[in-house]
Amino acid sequence: MPPPRTGRGLLWLGLVLSSVCVALGSETQANSTTDALNVLLIIVDDLRPSLGCYGDKLVRSPNIDQLASHSLLFQNAFAQQAVCAPSRVSFLTGRRPDTTRLYDFNSYWRVHAGNFSTIPQYFKENGYVTMSVGKVFHPGISSNHTDDSPYSWSFPPYHPSSEKYENTKTCRGPDGELHANLLCPVDVLDVPEGTLPDKQSTEQAIQLLEKMKTSASPFFLAVGYHKPHIPFRYPKEFQKLYPLENITLAPDPEVPDGLPPVAYNPWMDIRQREDVQALNISVPYGPIPVDFQRKIRQSYFASVSYLDTQVGRLLSALDDLQLANSTIIAFTSDHGRQSMDLVELVSLFPTLAGLAGLQVPPRCPVPSFHVELCREGKNLLKHFRFRDLEEDPYLPGNPRELIAYSQYPRPADIPQWNSDKPSLKDIKIMGYSIRTIDYRYTVWVGFNPDEFLANFSDIHAGELYFVDSDPLQDHNMYNDSQGGDLFQLLMP
Ligand SMILES: *[C@@H]1O[C@H](CO)[C@@H](O)[C@H](O)[C@H]1NC(C)=O
Ligand SMILES: *[C@@H]1O[C@H](CO)[C@@H](O)[C@H](O)[C@H]1NC(C)=O
Ligand SMILES: *[C@@H]1O[C@H](CO)[C@@H](O)[C@H](O)[C@H]1NC(C)=O
Ligand SMILES: *[C@@H]1O[C@H](CO)[C@@H](O)[C@H](O)[C@H]1NC(C)=O
Ligand SMILES: *[C@@H]1O[C@H](CO)[C@@H](O)[C@H](O)[C@H]1NC(C)=O
Ligand SMILES: *[C@@H]1O[C@H](CO)[C@@H](O)[C@H](O)[C@H]1NC(C)=O
Repeated sequence: MPPPRTGRGLLWLGLVLSSVCVALGSETQANSTTDALNVLLIIVDDLRPSLGCYGDKLVRSPNIDQLASHSLLFQNAFAQQAVCAPSRVSFLTGRRPDTTRLYDFNSYWRVHAGNFSTIPQYFKENGYVTMSVGKVFHPGISSNHTDDSPYSWSFPPYHPSSEKYENTKTCRGPDGELHANLLCPVDVLDVPEGTLPDKQSTEQAIQLLEKMKTSASPFFLAVGYHKPHIPFRYPKEFQKLYPLENITLAPDPEVPDGLPPVAYNPWMDIRQREDVQALNISVPYGPIPVDFQRKIRQSYFASVSYLDTQVGRLLSALDDLQLANSTIIAFTSDHGRQSMDLVELVSLFPTLAGLAGLQVPPRCPVPSFHVELCREGKNLLKHFRFRDLEEDPYLPGNPRELIAYSQYPRPADIPQWNSDKPSLKDIKIMGYSIRTIDYRYTVWVGFNPDEFLANFSDIHAGELYFVDSDPLQDHNMYNDSQGGDLFQLLMP
């Protein structure tokens, strides 16, 4: 049934994946380049749903909230692996990490796994001008040191010149000296080049939008923001939004009793920062002093608000250029903890293709290493109601039918220095998780990195949490359940 038209003749819809919002205007199907919809894909690094639109009472995120208010907001969106490079390669190719064979940062899928098409590549091949600004692909080997150019992009990707200072000594400490700190509120006039990467990316993206205003071809613009990824290097005025006395601690700061050691993340990347080193926190379990916990949370929230202002500038420019009614906006994070329906980031590819009126790539056969264009995710088009959302709120389908999968590699059963980010050759164990609307179920099984084979009869540990009674996942019920049987039933 064709969608009824309401309002200003525009359709504002949303796709929110992981922390995502999509606004869609104009036609739902466009098969000539002149009336094709543009795509603006905003990717935020390490954003969890600490946003007003996800019910967070403390965090100030008015711009993202406004986008969400006329978007489809997914409440349960899951990354396929919560590490930058594997997550991005997964959702940008629409394939799971077991297909891209990227669990670390050290290989390029086109030579290592298969010559898989990416979302921007597909749009480019369908007549779009495709552009990358900031951190879209993870830089380095995993995108062949070129952000997958020339395949994905119409011209070379842009990287902000000031990103090279992110991990350097630019944070003024109480001693008056500059340090490479975790907590890094800065006076922007005072830092090298007098700017920050995300500000530069916004400016570049706006310039590209201005150019595309008169373009005969539709565009696909991906903008990748660095914050709130650590270090928390942000304009210091944002700290004032979050007085320390107003910052609560995490509701469950203790390591849960029933947590198997293999599941624990020793957050080694945080420990390397000078201000954290100075705390002499014991490895691997801590604890972090309570005052410092508050400061970490304060700076995370301040970084989110800073990011929000950048998103606001970008979206205002889209409005000012009168491109908002012809542009699909998808807003997502690569990972971060995610909290209607379960969706997976691997579904972004078919969904964006469908929304733009392009042919949705076919489902992947198993195995699919030889197939360049196919999808492992779902086309989520049916979630979009093509009508005014206020009059006809989005009605979820039957969420119980849905399952989201993710995975995480480990080098050992006990937390060690490389537990958060093991290289492929060091991976000994793979954690596979199933999330349904009712529970999260994980098995940690033996893994052979030479053969890329998981051995499901070699179970190292398990986790089972019930969402209703234990939303924060602090009470592992695995040993009380018939664990393995359930998993066998649910594996894809
Ligand atoms: C798509 O193109 C075909 C053939 O050019 C045309 O018949 C059809 O109406 C077009 N559909 C839309 C939605 O523009
Ligand atoms: C991989 O795909 C790209 C884009 O379609 C194509 O240009 C290239 O020739 C392919 N490479 C191989 C080795 O098949
Ligand atoms: C990766 O980059 C190198 C150097 O630019 C290039 O020679 C090679 O062809 C690229 N790999 C692929 C698969 O395109
Ligand atoms: C901090 O908390 C106090 C007391 O609840 C409140 O009045 C004040 O508005 C809060 N400040 C901010 C910046 O949220
Ligand atoms: C760090 O802590 C360890 C034990 O927790 C202690 O032995 C050591 O002296 C501490 N070092 C410093 C510099 O405080
Ligand atoms: C979008 O809005 C502008 C200005 O209001 C208008 O000129 C343009 O035709 C609209 N485009 C679409 C696809 O509706």
